[in-house]
Amino acid sequence: MSNNIVLIGFMGSGKSSIGRELAKIKQSVLIDIDALIESNLGMCISDIFAYFGEEYFRKYERFLCSFIKNNIKNSIIATGGGTPAIYNVKELGIVVYLDTPFKKAISRIKYSNNRPKLKDNIKSLYESRLNIYKNSSNIVIESSDTVEGIARKIINILEK
Ligand code: S3P
Repeated sequence: MSNNIVLIGFMGSGKSSIGRELAKIKQSVLIDIDALIESNLGMCISDIFAYFGEEYFRKYERFLCSFIKNNIKNSIIATGGGTPAIYNVKELGIVVYLDTPFKKAISRIKYSNNRPKLKDNIKSLYESRLNIYKNSSNIVIESSDTVEGIARKIINILEK
């Protein structure tokens, strides 16, 4: 068992901030897939999409998932919003879906200039992802609390 906690959910569901909080509380390490892609390629996500295309991004995302599967234990994994659509995230650890209403997610990300998928039909992307997130998760958490509150809730459920 890897003992990793894997956070999934739509853009703006709080995966990275809740991941940071979980890592702090559990004195563990956050592995943030988007941040890893950016640091390894030396480019921000919107430039990767613009210069190399989404397929290249997805290929790299898949490569990092297999790296995590083979090498990472006892850590917190923050995925990208599209990761569960291209990889079986249950292979990475216990998967927690941060279930966030569409309007709330959008209100958090609407001014972001590093989320190329915002250019797509975002409502239909959200709807098409719902089943993927549900089917890919072991635990569903409604993310309607503070970052710390949600992190504590996740730990309580996992340590029950
Ligand atoms: C994506 C979500 C983004 C990032 C990329 C694609 C998606 O991650 O991986 O822009 O397809 O939903 P966040 O959910 O962290 O914004």
